[in-house]
Amino acid sequence: MDKLLITGGRPLEGAVRVSGAKNAALPVMAATLLAPGVHRLRNVPRLRDTQTFARVLELLGARVSFEGDQLTIDTGDVNSVEAPYELVKTMRASIYVLGPLLARFGRAKVSLPGGCAWGPRPVNLHLAGLRAMGAALDIEHGYIVGRNVKLKGAVIGFDVVSVGATAQLMMAAVLAEGATVLENVALEPDVTALGQALIACGARIEGLGSRRLAIEGVGRLRPIDTTIIPDRIEAATFAAAAAMTGGAVRLEGVVPDHCEAALRKLEECGCTLWRGADEVTVACPGRPQPVNVVTQPFPGFPTDMQAQMMAVCAVAGGTSVIEDTIYFDRFTHVPELARMGARIELKGNVAVVKGVDRLYGAQVMATDLRASASLVIAALAAEGETLIDRIYHLDRGYETLEKKLGALGAQVRRVH
Ligand code: UD1
Repeated sequence: MDKLLITGGRPLEGAVRVSGAKNAALPVMAATLLAPGVHRLRNVPRLRDTQTFARVLELLGARVSFEGDQLTIDTGDVNSVEAPYELVKTMRASIYVLGPLLARFGRAKVSLPGGCAWGPRPVNLHLAGLRAMGAALDIEHGYIVGRNVKLKGAVIGFDVVSVGATAQLMMAAVLAEGATVLENVALEPDVTALGQALIACGARIEGLGSRRLAIEGVGRLRPIDTTIIPDRIEAATFAAAAAMTGGAVRLEGVVPDHCEAALRKLEECGCTLWRGADEVTVACPGRPQPVNVVTQPFPGFPTDMQAQMMAVCAVAGGTSVIEDTIYFDRFTHVPELARMGARIELKGNVAVVKGVDRLYGAQVMATDLRASASLVIAALAAEGETLIDRIYHLDRGYETLEKKLGALGAQVRRVH
């Protein structure tokens, strides 16, 4: 199993080009099932998750080819509606195929995703919404099964803001019979980008960017031709790494507005930021100041940056308080950061982080994607060597991470 060996203590300096967003690419890949034909997606990150999703599409009968960052998906010959447990269990986002399969074929058999490292992660909103649209769904032997489904428009209000359920029901509604209204939808840029890609191929969606979407079903859609938006979480992770190491990094190819909550938090930490049209420079000459963080749905501070921000706070000049209101159990990085000398007290979903003068290298274990990213940036600032085990989690979401960090002057080596 691969590990990362990081020798800390060097400030990150230079420029880094941010890849396409994993969380924007996955729902668009699922949406290719809505229309038979050849779909073209550019700026797709080559990650374990996009490759796993490509495999799911292939199992359904699609032809998928990756050339550079361009993904071509031919969904003309899709002939299966089954997404098996073996793939879904490795990537929850596989659940995204459910709505498109029901919308196009009226049938689907998709494994229930199960929990993940930080808790149960239910899909009840996806299922309730599809049922409200007329889909009789059964749970059989761990699979969600729909037969003879004819989706009809419905009015659906979410009691929790959910990225996944919003994308799922948007994809179902664009081909459903009649009008669907989705209330209290997610505003994450990934969801808006999916809506824009669907509109460009003939979907009728009103209200993108607001909490209420009105969708009028259409008979058919044209194949998708789109460019995936930049990864705001990758960008913010590099910005946090710059903050932690006292460096200065230019993030290229980003949409600054998408990263604003995280960038503002780094400004509160004492970093200086220059925002351009598609780039941001983050310079952090001194020790970070402590900050309080509460994760919220977009445009609030993202839960996907909570772990990385905790690493920054671990070396801040004072006490920070970090609360995750989206995932109450998303704290598997806490004991690992503590192995590096961080002083963190966890009470329920609130972490009190007492900044220390420095962290020390240690052997630590990656437990999920963003927890792993927090260990990487902690290691970059720590004194001595850190060996991070189980970095397959990082490979799920960060494209050529050690290469990008190396170009910024970090000493990072992958060991087999
Ligand atoms: C997506 C992101 C993930 C991010 C999360 C929150 C992808 C592939 N993943 O995950 O990186 O951490 O958004 O920004 O885009 N919930 C329910 N019932 C449901 C669905 C969700 O109660 O049916 C709850 C969840 O437990 C959580 C909250 O809603 O508390 C938000 O989850 P959601 O936005 O759905 O997360 P994902 O789409 O799974």
